[in-house]
Amino acid sequence: MQTASIFNGIYVVQKKISSGSFGVVLLGHDKEKNVDVAIKIEKEENEDVRSLEREVQVLERLQGTDGIPKLLWHGQQDEYNVIILQLLGKDLSYYMKTKKKFSFKTTIQLGIQIVHVLERIHNKGVVHRDLKPENILFGIEDESSKIYVVDFGISKIFRDAQGNILPFRDNASFIGTTRYASIAAHKGYELSRKDDIESLIYVLLYFMKGQLPWQNMQNVSDEERTVKVGEMKMNIDPRELCKDVPIEFAKILEYLKQLQYNSEPNYCFVYHQFEKAAENQGIQLDNIYDWDQQQQMKISQNNENFDNFQRSTTQQQLQPPQSTEMKKSVEKQGSNLIRQLSNNQFLIPPSQLKRQDSQQPSVVSGSVMLSTYNSIRPKYQPSQIAFDIKVCGDDSCPQDIAQNMKQTAETGNQNGRQNSCAETVGWKDSVFEENFEEIPLSKKYSMLKQKGVAIQKKRKTSQSPNQQRKKN
Ligand SMILES: Nc1ncnc2c1ncn2[C@@H]1O[C@H](COP(=O)(O)OP(=O)(O)O)[C@@H](O)[C@H]1O
Ligand SMILES: [Mg+2]
Repeated sequence: MQTASIFNGIYVVQKKISSGSFGVVLLGHDKEKNVDVAIKIEKEENEDVRSLEREVQVLERLQGTDGIPKLLWHGQQDEYNVIILQLLGKDLSYYMKTKKKFSFKTTIQLGIQIVHVLERIHNKGVVHRDLKPENILFGIEDESSKIYVVDFGISKIFRDAQGNILPFRDNASFIGTTRYASIAAHKGYELSRKDDIESLIYVLLYFMKGQLPWQNMQNVSDEERTVKVGEMKMNIDPRELCKDVPIEFAKILEYLKQLQYNSEPNYCFVYHQFEKAAENQGIQLDNIYDWDQQQQMKISQNNENFDNFQRSTTQQQLQPPQSTEMKKSVEKQGSNLIRQLSNNQFLIPPSQLKRQDSQQPSVVSGSVMLSTYNSIRPKYQPSQIAFDIKVCGDDSCPQDIAQNMKQTAETGNQNGRQNSCAETVGWKDSVFEENFEEIPLSKKYSMLKQKGVAIQKKRKTSQSPNQQRKKN
């Protein structure tokens, strides 16, 4: 089958921006509005991941939030799940690759902006759960110093419709990206708002120091690395970790350590610490970043060559990608995935699925780059059993979530007393463990029962050929 080079009849593919294990992000052009867009696609057959579906649910909830890209369209086309997003600029891993370290000034300015975006995301009931340089982008044009946070593929809605925080649990598997994950993630705890901020601090330390002490562990498996990195994070004194950077970073980490799962972080405290750090370092917070300064210098040095430069760049046309090349790229992601999933037997709960931890070549704005350490994300599958959540009484099942229930999820209880929720962001994985696939079926059922889930046989539904295949 030919890979589409135009989505929804409007969005024309131009070139690849990035490719990860689960999908591809492309530069596109909205030919009706005559604006560039970002196109994120994953192969539909990667239904075991369903990260785009989840991302759409979260993005819809976050629309209108400053610092979150606009969701312009989503749907399915050919064999792809597609989302069309407002086009943004480069992500912060790009700048790290070129600069190796950021100044305190750049880091503090980034910290202040990102904390504000996180606060807004949290206020909409969402925890990001995978904050890292690759998921933090600048805007474009007049927003070129404005920060956006992207990639809600493993985010979670942490409040129900009544505004209650979903219950804590401590038997989840690791989720996120080892380098930046919070201590709670390493412990397998349910993640909350404080964990996004803890990850932010690791990201900022990485910017200032150029690396974190738990990088470059040799001769360890991925599992061992996750455990060892967790131990290092737990054992290291914040002041030791932050020894060459302003003391305020240590103070933020010390503050975060006191917070509980339910705690509302004091965002003001955090950005006041950043402001204090700037003040103590004599830094002027003027929204000029390391790369802006360098660019300014280059422009003035090369002023005489500017005309020539302009002439040559305007002659460069964006070449549409070979559709076969794009197809190969997406299919490669798909086949990696299928290989990883080939041992799955049981159909229901999300289980751990790793993006490959190796460095994968990707192309960002035309230059070949290595994408850094990748996320470990749960795999979400349509529920093949009906289940009732006891904590979810008659009217306590969140409306917005209930509306999102998939057709494949059936009401298990016919007496009308209990609600049945399935395949939803937030609820679903508050019940299902994320590393479920190795556990025998009988144990899975008893674990679910222990969690207050009443199991009934699912009534006959029409199943996709894929699902049928897995059962056989
Ligand atoms: N809206 C966007 N505009 C421009 N580039 C984007 C946009 N969204 C993502 N990207 C780029 O694509 C990369 C991958 O996107 P992301 O949403 O993080 O997907 P993944 O799930 O593959 O990590 C990002 O690191 C960033 O470089
Ligand atoms: Mg990402």
